Amino acid sequence: MDVFTPTIVRFDSLPSTNLEAARRAIEGAAEGLCVVAAEQTQGRGRLGRQWASPKGAGLYFSIILRPAFAQSSWPLLTLMAAVAVQDALSKSYDLRTDIKWPNDVIANEKKLCGILAETVETPKGGAVVVGIGINLTEDSFPSELKDVATSVDAVAASPANLELLMESLVNALSNQYRNLRMQDGITNLVNDWCVRSSYCAGKKIRVTDGGVSFVGTTRGIEKDGALIVETDAGELKVIRAGDVSSVRAFSSAQGTTGNTD
Ligand code: BTN
Repeated sequence: MDVFTPTIVRFDSLPSTNLEAARRAIEGAAEGLCVVAAEQTQGRGRLGRQWASPKGAGLYFSIILRPAFAQSSWPLLTLMAAVAVQDALSKSYDLRTDIKWPNDVIANEKKLCGILAETVETPKGGAVVVGIGINLTEDSFPSELKDVATSVDAVAASPANLELLMESLVNALSNQYRNLRMQDGITNLVNDWCVRSSYCAGKKIRVTDGGVSFVGTTRGIEKDGALIVETDAGELKVIRAGDVSSVRAFSSAQGTTGNTD
């Protein structure tokens, strides 16, 4: 049984699908409302970054959720969305992808998709807008990011098709959200995420949060989606914000903006 009835509203151009979805959530829109735009003029990324969104080059998509479970678990919705994107890419293009905590879907070591979940206070209670940007063509990101970003066109055997991918994505989000709301849904999602992400355990990473940066090894995911990292000095840290990069890839990802996080 579906948890929500997806309704898709389409725009030629928007500042940001997340902003439009938030506006509609405040107006009372139901869970499952999806906003999609052919282009975004002020696409938003994590940590206040921009998300380049040229016309027809990417899937720019947001969905409104009104989770009934504790707000402390809402960060899991980013992890859930990443798993759903993996499912959609697998179903539509037979693509195998990795997930970089917390919000990137990676193909061939490059960023293919970013996710931005934002909480909105509405008269009907708290809502979450989950925004998903998938690079469909190589035009979706600035050329200076070609070493760290990729697209469906570059990695799939067949050309990117927005409608096909969006249909798979909406189905996958509906399935994953239903699973998450079941008994043991949180434990199952965390376990599933760990099977699907090379960043869950045993990965050498650098964590950067504001001016602070350290290197450590990942040691799993907390029940609220936080990443556990053991520093080289043997101290366990629980990471809820900031940037994570594989130590091997760190130098090439520095100083970039746009669709690489
Ligand atoms: C990130 O990796 O920093 C997150 C990027 C999220 C981009 C998507 S595109 C659709 C939705 N609308 C936005 O303004 N941002 C998200």
